[in-house]
Amino acid sequence: MRPPKGTYDVLPLDLSKQGYSSDAIEHVRSAFIQAAQRAGFQEITTPVLESTDLFIKSTGISSDVVGKEMYTFLDRSERSMTLRPEGTPGALRALSLAKGHEKQLYQKVYYIGPMFRYERPQQGRHRQFIQFGMELLGPKHSAMDLDLIAVASQAFKTLGLEVELQINTIGTLEERKKFRQALTDALLPVKEQLSEESQKRLVTNPLRILDSKNEQDQDLLKNVPCLEDFLGEDSLNYFEQVKTSLTACGMRFTHNPRLVRGLDYYSDTVFEWTCDTIGAQSALGGGGRYSGLYKTLGGDQSEGVGFACGIERVLLALEAKNGAYKELAGRDLLCIPVTSTVTSSLLKLIFAIRSKGYTVDLHPIPSPKKLTKALQSADSRNFRFAMIVGEKELAAGQVVIKNLKTKEQVPIALSEEKILEIINKA
Ligand code: HAM
Repeated sequence: MRPPKGTYDVLPLDLSKQGYSSDAIEHVRSAFIQAAQRAGFQEITTPVLESTDLFIKSTGISSDVVGKEMYTFLDRSERSMTLRPEGTPGALRALSLAKGHEKQLYQKVYYIGPMFRYERPQQGRHRQFIQFGMELLGPKHSAMDLDLIAVASQAFKTLGLEVELQINTIGTLEERKKFRQALTDALLPVKEQLSEESQKRLVTNPLRILDSKNEQDQDLLKNVPCLEDFLGEDSLNYFEQVKTSLTACGMRFTHNPRLVRGLDYYSDTVFEWTCDTIGAQSALGGGGRYSGLYKTLGGDQSEGVGFACGIERVLLALEAKNGAYKELAGRDLLCIPVTSTVTSSLLKLIFAIRSKGYTVDLHPIPSPKKLTKALQSADSRNFRFAMIVGEKELAAGQVVIKNLKTKEQVPIALSEEKILEIINKA
C-alpha cells in the first residue's frame, strides 16, 4: 500500500529513494531551530487537529486555504474539525490562553510540524508537508520585522542557499478596502479576458489577482491602479523604515509591488523568499505582519509578525544546488554477536559504552554466514567500527574490531577500556 496521494514516508537516508530522508530533514530543521533560538525564540507545539472555526476566524474565508484546501470533517461528536493547514492560528490561540502577553511585552515562538492542504500535488507541493514557522507578538516596530526576517536569512545562509527576498506593504485594512474597490472597478470591464482563476478571485479576493502567474492577467494588470497609491502616510513611512533597516543591515531584497500573500490576516509588511531552481513552486517561505489577529483569537491588542517556510521546498533547493543529500550522521560502533548466547553476554558492555555517550547499535546475526550482509549494512549506515564476537572469541575474552573506513581488523581484549581506546584513537 502506498501513502495517500500528496503525502510521503520519511525514511532514514540509506532506505530513502527520494530527497526527503529523515537525515536531510533534520539538517534543514536544525539550521532553522538554531537561528531561531539564537534570536530568543522558544518552541511551541500545538495540536495538529483544531476546531474548524479557528481557521475560518484567522486564515480567513476569502483565502484559498480555507475556501478549498482544508481537510475538514465531523468527528464522532459532530464537531467540525480540521487538520491544520498552517501553524499561525494554533500558535496564537495557545499563546492567548497562556496569557503570555500579561507576562512579557514580546512573545517569540517557533514551531515545526506537519500541515495539511488539499492541493494538486506536484514538485514542492504536497497534501501533507512540514512547515517551520515563527511568530513574534508585541508592539509594532520595524526592527521586529527585521528581527524575524533575519532569522530566516541566517538559516538560508547556514544552509548555503542563495534565495531572493521579496517584500511589499499591503497597508491597513481600510486602505486595502479602497484599493480593492478600485481594482474591481478596473477589472470588471475586462472580466471575460481574465483567466478562469482570476475571474473567480474578482469576486472572492481581487487582491490575489495581482500575483497571478497567467501572462494575459499580467498584461491586463498593467492598466489597473497601484496599491501604493492608496496607502496613507503612516503605512508608507513604516514600509520605508523596514526597507531602510534592511539596507542598513546589508540584507538584499527586491520590492515587489504585486506581492500580496494568500492569507487574510496580513497588514503592512509582507515578504517571501523565492528560489528559481525548484520549478513552479518557487516560494520557499513567506510571511508578514498582522494586526488584530491575536485579539480575534483571544489575546490582547498585540500586533505581530511571522513567517513559515516549507521544509520540502528548502530540501529541493538544496538538492538543486548540491545534489542529493548524502551526509549521514557518523555512528561509532556496530556490535555483531554471532549467536544468541553471545548476544546476552554482551548487553551489559554495550549499555555501558552507550552511557558514555557513544552510539552502539546491536545487530545479532543467527549464523556467521550473515556476517558479510551485516558489515555491508554497517557501511551504508555510516558506522566507524564493527565489533564481531563469536563463541570462541567470547570464551577467550576477545573481540574483533574492524575499522570500516580503513578495513583494518584487529583482535583485542573484550573490555570497555580497550574498545573505547580504539574508537577514540581513530
Ligand atoms: P504560506 O505562504 O501559506 O504561509 O506557507 C508558507 C510556506 O509553506 C510556503 O512558502 C511553502 O514553502 C510552504 N507550503 C505551503 N503550502 C505547501 C504545500 N502544499 N506543499 C509544500 N509546501 C507548502 C503560511 O502558512 C503562514 N502561516 C506564514 C506566516 C506565519 N505568516 C505569519 N506567520
